[in-house]
Amino acid sequence: MAAQPTIEQEFNEAFKTSETQYRRAVEAIAGGVTHDVRHMKPFPLYIDTASGSRKWDVDGHELIDYVMGHGALLFGHSHGEIVDAVNQQMQRGTHYGAGHELEIEWGERIKHNVKSIDRVEFTSSGTEATLMAMRLARAYTGRDKILKFAGHFHGWHDYAVAGERFPIEKPVPGVPKAVLDTVVVAPVNDLDFVEQALSRGDIAGVILEPSGASWASIPFPDGHLKKIREMTEQHNTVLIFDEVITGFRWAPGGKQESEGIVPDLTTMAKIVAGGLPGGAVGGRRDIMDLLAFKDEPGWNADKKVGHPGTYNANPLSAVAGATCLQMAANPRVQRHAEEMALRLRKGFNKVLVDENVPGFVWGESSVFHIVLGETCENQTGDDIHIPQGVAPERLKGGSDAKYDHALYQGMLLNGVDLFHGGGLISSVHTAEDVDKTIEAFRATVVRMRDEGMFN
Ligand SMILES: Cc1ncc(COP(=O)(O)O)c(C=O)c1O
Repeated sequence: MAAQPTIEQEFNEAFKTSETQYRRAVEAIAGGVTHDVRHMKPFPLYIDTASGSRKWDVDGHELIDYVMGHGALLFGHSHGEIVDAVNQQMQRGTHYGAGHELEIEWGERIKHNVKSIDRVEFTSSGTEATLMAMRLARAYTGRDKILKFAGHFHGWHDYAVAGERFPIEKPVPGVPKAVLDTVVVAPVNDLDFVEQALSRGDIAGVILEPSGASWASIPFPDGHLKKIREMTEQHNTVLIFDEVITGFRWAPGGKQESEGIVPDLTTMAKIVAGGLPGGAVGGRRDIMDLLAFKDEPGWNADKKVGHPGTYNANPLSAVAGATCLQMAANPRVQRHAEEMALRLRKGFNKVLVDENVPGFVWGESSVFHIVLGETCENQTGDDIHIPQGVAPERLKGGSDAKYDHALYQGMLLNGVDLFHGGGLISSVHTAEDVDKTIEAFRATVVRMRDEGMFN
C-alpha cells in the first residue's frame, strides 16, 4: 500500500497553479511577493476572485477568508454598496487634483464615529498616517523623541520600524542610527520605564496600538492604557492611538471608544478607506491646526507642518471610505464580527484540548491568534484574552515555522485561508462559516498530530 502523502506533499499537488505563478513572480517582483507577510514556503497562494467571506484561488479552491484584506474588509470582499459607490465614482473621475465633496463627507463621517477627532487630514496609507502623527507631535511640543512599545507595528517608515521585531535592540538595515536614536522603545508592559522616559522631558509623543502589539497579540494588561493616558497628560506628551486595525473594528469609534480613553491624535487606515488605499490622522484641534495655512485660525508661522501627497483623499478612496464608515457607525456590525470571533476562538481552543494538541488561541474583538507546539497556563478549552506564562516574543512571532507552515497548508487543504497564524473576521462571516472553520482546524491539527509533528 502506498504511503499517505504528508500535508506538504498534498498541498504542493493541490495548489500547483499557485506554484507556477510564484515561479513567474520571482523573475519580475523582488522577493516574489508584494508584502513581506504574504511570503510563504514553499510558495504563496495566488487568488483569482473574492466575494463576501470567500476567495477562490487560481486552482479553483473555494476558501473561507480570514485575511480580509489585512483587516481592511470589515464588510467582506466586494460589498455591494461599496462596489456600487466606487463604480459610479469611476465614471465621474478618479483624480480631480482639487477639493471635492466626497472628501468632506469622508472627514465628517470619521468625526462622527471617533469623538476625540476635531479635525482630520488624509494620507494614502497607515504608514503615512503614523509618519504624519509623529511629525505633528514633534512640531507641537518642540521635542524630538517618540516613545513606542516593543512589538507594536506602525508601518514601515524609518521611525516606525524601531523595536518592532524582537530582539528590539537589533539595528534595522537601511535606517540611519541617528533616526533610530530618536525613538525610545519601551519594553513590554514596563510602565516604570515609560514614566522614567517621559520625566526626562524630551519625548514629543507616545504612539501605541491600543489593542497591544499587532492587533492584540501582546495585549496590554488591564488598566495600562489608562495609566499611559495619565502619564502623557502629566508630562504634556502627545498620546497617539494607532487605530489602523482597531479603528471602526473594536467599536464604531475604535478601541478608544471601547476603553473610554481620549487620545490626542488617532491614526487610521484599512477600514477607514473601505478596502481601498487610504489613511488618515485626526485629533485635537490645536494639534491638527499645525496644518493650517497663513492667516487661517490656528496658523502658526514657526510650526506649520506641510502636507503633500498625490493620492490623498482621491475620490475613489473617499467614496469607498465614506460608504463604509456610514455602515460601520452601526454597532451591530462590530458586535456580529465579535460574536463570530468568540465562537471561533472557543471552538479552536476546545479542539486543542479535546484532541490533546499543544497550542492556544487568543484575541479580542473580531480577531484571533494561534500558537501551536506549546501551551499557555490558562488553556482550559475556552476563550483566552491574555495567555499566561508565554514569552511576548512567542505571542508576537507565533508558532515555530514548521507548525505555522503545516497549519497554513492544512487549513488551505480544508478550505480556509488564515492570516499570519491567525485572522480577522468580518461582519459577513456566518456561524456556518465559523463552524466549518473549526472543523477544518480539527482535521488539520489532528493530521499534524498523527504525522508526529508534536512528538
Ligand atoms: C497598527 C498599524 N499601523 C500602521 C500600519 C501601516 O498601515 P499601511 O499598511 O496602510 O501602511 C499597519 C498595517 O498593518 C498597522 O497594523
